Amino acid sequence: MTQATQNTMRAEAIDQFGGPERMALRTLPVPEIAADEVLIRVEAAGVGVWDPFEREGGFARMMGAKPTFPYVLGSDGAGTVAAVGDRVRRFKEGDRVYGFALASPKGGFYAEYAAVKEELVSRVPEKLPTDQAGAMPIDAITALRGLDDTLGLKPGESLLIFGASGGVGHLAVQLAERMGARVFAVASGPDGVALVKRLGADAVIDGHKDDVVAAARAFAPGGIDAALITAGGQDANRALQVVRDGGRVAYPNGVEPEPKARPGMRAQSYDGTPDPQAIEKLNRLIESGPFAVHVSRTFPLEQAPEAHRALEQHYLGKLALRPN
Ligand SMILES: NC(=O)c1ccc[n+]([C@@H]2O[C@H](COP(=O)([O-])OP(=O)(O)OC[C@H]3O[C@@H](n4cnc5c(N)ncnc54)[C@H](OP(=O)(O)O)[C@@H]3O)[C@@H](O)[C@H]2O)c1
Repeated sequence: MTQATQNTMRAEAIDQFGGPERMALRTLPVPEIAADEVLIRVEAAGVGVWDPFEREGGFARMMGAKPTFPYVLGSDGAGTVAAVGDRVRRFKEGDRVYGFALASPKGGFYAEYAAVKEELVSRVPEKLPTDQAGAMPIDAITALRGLDDTLGLKPGESLLIFGASGGVGHLAVQLAERMGARVFAVASGPDGVALVKRLGADAVIDGHKDDVVAAARAFAPGGIDAALITAGGQDANRALQVVRDGGRVAYPNGVEPEPKARPGMRAQSYDGTPDPQAIEKLNRLIESGPFAVHVSRTFPLEQAPEAHRALEQHYLGKLALRPN
């Protein structure tokens, strides 16, 4: 095993579940890695919309897990390999990698170092900057699992993406275009519309203002084949009217309220669970053309509480922290 150059690190940790004010900068031991783990020196950590739920103890309750404090949040991120366990063969010190550490007992990415199972670590696609790679993993795998496994999207099909300027949505737009679908995107605000147009959607409207049903009927007069819904509520349910009879609808678990599909449509919720096959497929899709992860704000590590508060406001794409 190669060694990290320091024994302690800066980390944003909580001593008990609660509000954003519970997070504070601590000096903690650098996590020790097992034989099948990789130690990542973290340059960018994703701030997920689910992080406040974890901070309040939601995941621990859901999984029936006994949490260990101090507890370091941060379910995805990217950086360089600082050390590898004895059985790790795919990575070496200095490699640029991204990884997944959802509710990991070793702690997450809101820290200078994170220990991650080798199978949940990937090299960063060559042209993707590390700061973008750090904000991408969970939302990108969630986009891919929705489009590929859940919807079984085929070339030439029409696809509605609701919440297209959000974390999952803006990545799904790019992946779906690459899979050969015709994308009808419902984004948030004029800035969201502009972003999603730049990312290559075939048609984009503002879901807070425009008439989704009229625009979708013009786009696909026979109805839309499939839909990926990343935000719940009345607007999403209204948008679902444009899916054709026999069409498919997918939404990640966590979308609230759950979208209401009418009889004759197949609606399915799912999780963006990472595994080596899905990660490999994601990398191949990313590498086959231009791809951008939109990080609208990056906060220094010690501003994690501000980053969590910023999740409540309008922003595009993702938020991130910079631990190193
Ligand atoms: N189960 C899993 O494995 C998994 C994994 C990842 C994510 N998720 C869940 O998936 C959901 C999406 O995640 P995310 O990271 O993409 O969150 P997000 O960035 O908040 O995306 C949702 C987007 O929908 C937009 N939106 C809401 N109402 C809209 C409307 N009427 N018209 C147009 N846009 C609208 C929001 O923008 P405004 O707020 O500006 O309107 C936001 O950009 C969350 O519920 C998350 O918890 C689950």
